[in-house]
Amino acid sequence: MKILTSLLLMILFFMLSQATVNGFNKSLEAKALVATNWWPQHANVSDDYCNWDGISCNDAGSVTDIYLYDENLEGNLGSLDFSSFPNLVILGLENCSLEGSIPEQIGLLSNLTQLSLQRNQLTGNLPVSLTNLIRLKTLHLSGNSFSGEFPALLTNLIHLEDLSLSYNNFSGELPISLTNLTHLRYLSLYLNNFNGNLPVWLSKLSHLEFLDLSYNNFSGVLPVSLANLTHLEYLYLSNNKLTGPIPPSYGSIVNLKSLDLSTNQLNASIPNQITHLQYLLSLNLGDNNFDGPIPSNLGNLSQLYFLNLSHNSLVGPFHGNLSRFTSLDFSSNQLSGNLSIQNPCDLQHLNLSMNRMTGAITSLRVCVSLEYLDLSSNSFVGEQLNKLEFPLLKFLNQSLNNNLTAIAPSPSPVHYLTIFLPIILGLCFLILVYVCYKNHNATENKIQPQTIKHGNVCSILNYDGTIAYEDFITATEDFDLKYCIGTGGYGSVYEAKLPNGKTFALKKLHHFGSSVSLDLRG
Ligand SMILES: *[C@@H]1O[C@H](CO)[C@@H](O)[C@H](O)[C@H]1NC(C)=O
Ligand SMILES: *[C@@H]1O[C@H](CO)[C@@H](O)[C@H](O)[C@H]1NC(C)=O
Ligand SMILES: *[C@@H]1O[C@H](CO)[C@@H](O)[C@H](O)[C@H]1NC(C)=O
Ligand SMILES: *[C@@H]1O[C@H](CO)[C@@H](O)[C@H](O)[C@H]1NC(C)=O
Ligand SMILES: *[C@@H]1O[C@H](CO)[C@@H](O)[C@H](O)[C@H]1NC(C)=O
Ligand SMILES: *[C@@H]1O[C@H](CO)[C@@H](O)[C@H](O)[C@H]1NC(C)=O
Ligand SMILES: *[C@@H]1O[C@H](CO)[C@@H](O)[C@H](O)[C@H]1NC(C)=O
Ligand SMILES: *[C@@H]1O[C@H](CO)[C@@H](O)[C@H](O)[C@H]1NC(C)=O
Ligand SMILES: *[C@@H]1O[C@H](CO)[C@@H](O)[C@H](O)[C@H]1NC(C)=O
Ligand SMILES: *[C@@H]1O[C@H](CO)[C@@H](O)[C@H](O)[C@H]1NC(C)=O
Ligand SMILES: *[C@@H]1O[C@H](CO)[C@@H](O)[C@H](O)[C@H]1NC(C)=O
Ligand SMILES: *[C@@H]1O[C@H](CO)[C@@H](O)[C@H](O)[C@H]1NC(C)=O
Repeated sequence: MKILTSLLLMILFFMLSQATVNGFNKSLEAKALVATNWWPQHANVSDDYCNWDGISCNDAGSVTDIYLYDENLEGNLGSLDFSSFPNLVILGLENCSLEGSIPEQIGLLSNLTQLSLQRNQLTGNLPVSLTNLIRLKTLHLSGNSFSGEFPALLTNLIHLEDLSLSYNNFSGELPISLTNLTHLRYLSLYLNNFNGNLPVWLSKLSHLEFLDLSYNNFSGVLPVSLANLTHLEYLYLSNNKLTGPIPPSYGSIVNLKSLDLSTNQLNASIPNQITHLQYLLSLNLGDNNFDGPIPSNLGNLSQLYFLNLSHNSLVGPFHGNLSRFTSLDFSSNQLSGNLSIQNPCDLQHLNLSMNRMTGAITSLRVCVSLEYLDLSSNSFVGEQLNKLEFPLLKFLNQSLNNNLTAIAPSPSPVHYLTIFLPIILGLCFLILVYVCYKNHNATENKIQPQTIKHGNVCSILNYDGTIAYEDFITATEDFDLKYCIGTGGYGSVYEAKLPNGKTFALKKLHHFGSSVSLDLRG
């Protein structure tokens, strides 16, 4: 019965598509576009729709592309009359708030090569008529609310190269008919509820470059056969329930750039063959049950910049220089060995917490790009690190390392003093020089007119005692003994010859070092 219905539907669509196949009706296309109300600024029927946002036409003026994204179209796909667009090749309505199901009428778009409906709220079963879209190469239905088993009808779309059903609510096992899609290069099914074993036959999709099955409910072991996917560059299987070891043959997935097997129940030791993946940029094996040592040549993978081996039971040292990674997470293992940091250091994220590592952490001072640094619960030695030494650091934990020596209680003032003290001293010196210079000038300016005023010491004293005092100091060369003409119990008497030629006797009292009484002897 079901087969009969779909057969009838297919015949119907065949007839419908034949009706429009020989050319198009411009006014029909215009009417259909206006009727959607997706271009409210073009509410009048007009023939210049080829210039509207998101629309492309062929030379004859018939619509070939409709591509809108991030627009709230507040409707469903049913508002587009598919029968009016016999030449449509690309239909994309991404993140357009579309609801409801994909209408059967979509099967009329027999020239379609790309259908992108990701990030809407589409639901229901996929229409049977989708199998009509035999030219489809790209089908993106991710980020909707589709559910049920993997839509087997899709496996008739044998020209598909790029299929994404991620972020929906599909469940059940993957159908073996997927192997029909021999042209697939990109397959993304993450964040669904698919279960069962990872199929051995996935290796038949031999052109796969990207395979993402993460965040599902797959169980069982990693199939050895995946090693045959030699074009694979990205393999994401994290957050499933996979068990057993990594097949050593995975070392022959030669083009692999990124491998994520994290958050599964994989065990045994990490095979040395993984170090044959010379193009690897990113490796995440975190949160599994791996034990044994880290393959000794892992540090030789010269492109590897992201490495996560956290939350396993790995033992022994890591061979190589940690500082050439950008992100390194070894946390929660039983790793030992000395910290090896060299200059230059690219580390932005370093988590070595909960291990048994040793060595002086002061070598990390060259890692000035660090944003996250967790060294806690190890056996590191040396002086503690100061957060202020790392301009970008947002997180620092070096606790529970018994042998770290504390830094000074208030390290920052100390730190700043070493910088600012010379500056402050320099400034003081400059101020001093300035003051002296100014004073010197001032004395000179004062002394110059005095040489004229010296005519009458008494009048000078009357006006400015200090000036006269200075003159006496000069005349006696600061009370040099050679000017001393007598000493009594009260003080000493000096002879002072002032610039005007007059000679005076000066009495310097003992009790007040600088106090001078003047005895005019003319
Ligand atoms: C195009 O469609 C209009 C209706 O919108 C119709 O009146 C007209 O006859 C059609 N033209 C052709 C050539 O089919
Ligand atoms: C549609 O066209 C009519 C006349 O041709 C004009 O009065 C009206 O303003 C137009 N509406 C819009 C939305 O452009
Ligand atoms: C979806 O489109 C809305 C505008 O309609 C925009 O604000 C939002 O950022 C878009 N979401 C994504 C994930 O691009
Ligand atoms: C659409 O397909 C028909 C035949 O199915 C063909 O005549 C027409 O040229 C195609 N248009 C494009 C743009 O490929
Ligand atoms: C997903 O599908 C399961 C049945 O497979 C159903 O119980 C669950 O409610 C669905 N979740 C959502 C968010 O639709
Ligand atoms: C798809 O695969 C199934 C089983 O693997 C097979 O029966 C069917 O003929 C294939 N369909 C096409 C179009 O190749
Ligand atoms: C995952 O699959 C197992 C069977 O392999 C099943 O028992 C379990 O309920 C599934 N979990 C979810 C969340 O669907
Ligand atoms: C890998 O491919 C070769 C041929 O390319 C084939 O002989 C072998 O059986 C395949 N291995 C697996 C495990 O699929
Ligand atoms: C790995 O786990 C499986 C069960 O998932 C167990 O049978 C096997 O012995 C374990 N292997 C190792 C080396 O721990
Ligand atoms: C490493 O993997 C674990 C487990 O998946 C995760 O919690 C952690 O955030 C990852 N670390 C980094 C730096 O991504
Ligand atoms: C890896 O590097 C070490 C030196 O760090 C070297 O002794 C070893 O031969 C290298 N291995 C390979 C496979 O290049
Ligand atoms: C660390 O300190 C403990 C005592 O607290 C001492 O026994 C141990 O030898 C020290 N380790 C190192 C590497 O200095």
